[in-house]
Amino acid sequence: MDLMVRGSKVYIENDISRLNEALATLKLRKKLFIITDENLYCLYKDMLSNALNYDLEFIVLPAGEKSKSIDSVLMITKRLLEGNIKRNDTIVGFGGGVISDITGFVASILYRGINHVIIPTSLLAMVDASLGGKTGVDFYNRKNIIGAFYEPKLIFIATEFLNTLPEAELKSGFGEVFKYAFIKPSLQAKLFNGSLAEIISDCISIKKEFIEEDFYDQGLRMQLNLGHTFGHIVEIKYGLSHGIAVISGMKMIFKLEENLGLIDDSYLKKLNSLLEKYKIIAPDYDYHAYLDDIFNDKKNLKGVLSLVFIDAKGTYLFSNTKEELYAKISSR
Ligand code: GLY
Repeated sequence: MDLMVRGSKVYIENDISRLNEALATLKLRKKLFIITDENLYCLYKDMLSNALNYDLEFIVLPAGEKSKSIDSVLMITKRLLEGNIKRNDTIVGFGGGVISDITGFVASILYRGINHVIIPTSLLAMVDASLGGKTGVDFYNRKNIIGAFYEPKLIFIATEFLNTLPEAELKSGFGEVFKYAFIKPSLQAKLFNGSLAEIISDCISIKKEFIEEDFYDQGLRMQLNLGHTFGHIVEIKYGLSHGIAVISGMKMIFKLEENLGLIDDSYLKKLNSLLEKYKIIAPDYDYHAYLDDIFNDKKNLKGVLSLVFIDAKGTYLFSNTKEELYAKISSR
């Protein structure tokens, strides 16, 4: 299945049999640079080398978030220049969110912008990180603090890569999938009886609506952060994986909204039924303990924090100063 998401052509396939056909639409040179991590390199180097009609040069990073650094950007750029990369060449990111973010960022700055392709290998990268052009690296203890909005020309999703994804990472990916299922409840039924390819395709269609309307994240797109404000706090504090932290964050938001009398407990019950179906455990935290922390969030502009809330009409931004939010909570 193919669709366009803004400037990116997205293929959703079971395997890579159409990858040459997809790459051929970009008029590439014979040599292709592939940026990946060492785990994926070991697993898929031979498969890619045999399947692709190109001379591949792999640039391999250590696996994990530590590679999302300016040092990696410089190392990759040096290797590309040593390999004689030209302004009209294309680079390929083959991996999860870290590889997708760093490849996009290198592509955005080299020659002031070259083409790139993302082949996501994690569920999280398939439904979120590869889409919508948010690229970047971590710096000065801040995640994604240096970056650019820069879209890949092509995103090639092959669900077969999920077969080698560690179970914990697959479960983490479902955190983002569940988020979409609350933003668009029609996805909830598919989570009980649809195929993984259908679920991924629905997530992409939901994200497409937001990024085509608000690519630069000025308002509407922020609603994609459902569960993320509390989630980021517990992700860092307790070292949770991103998706599990997003689920814990959604639980906290639903409880806060329940306490404010804005929704009933059906949202939390629905989330718990999804967790049970997918055998995922996400810790429960009392949101009261994290209220101070969320007001230190980078999205807190001029003391006003916009939390993503939900009701029967959908998601919306609920904006308050710290004093306003505390007053609303204590008046209940
Ligand atoms: N991950 C949320 C966004 O792309 O806006």
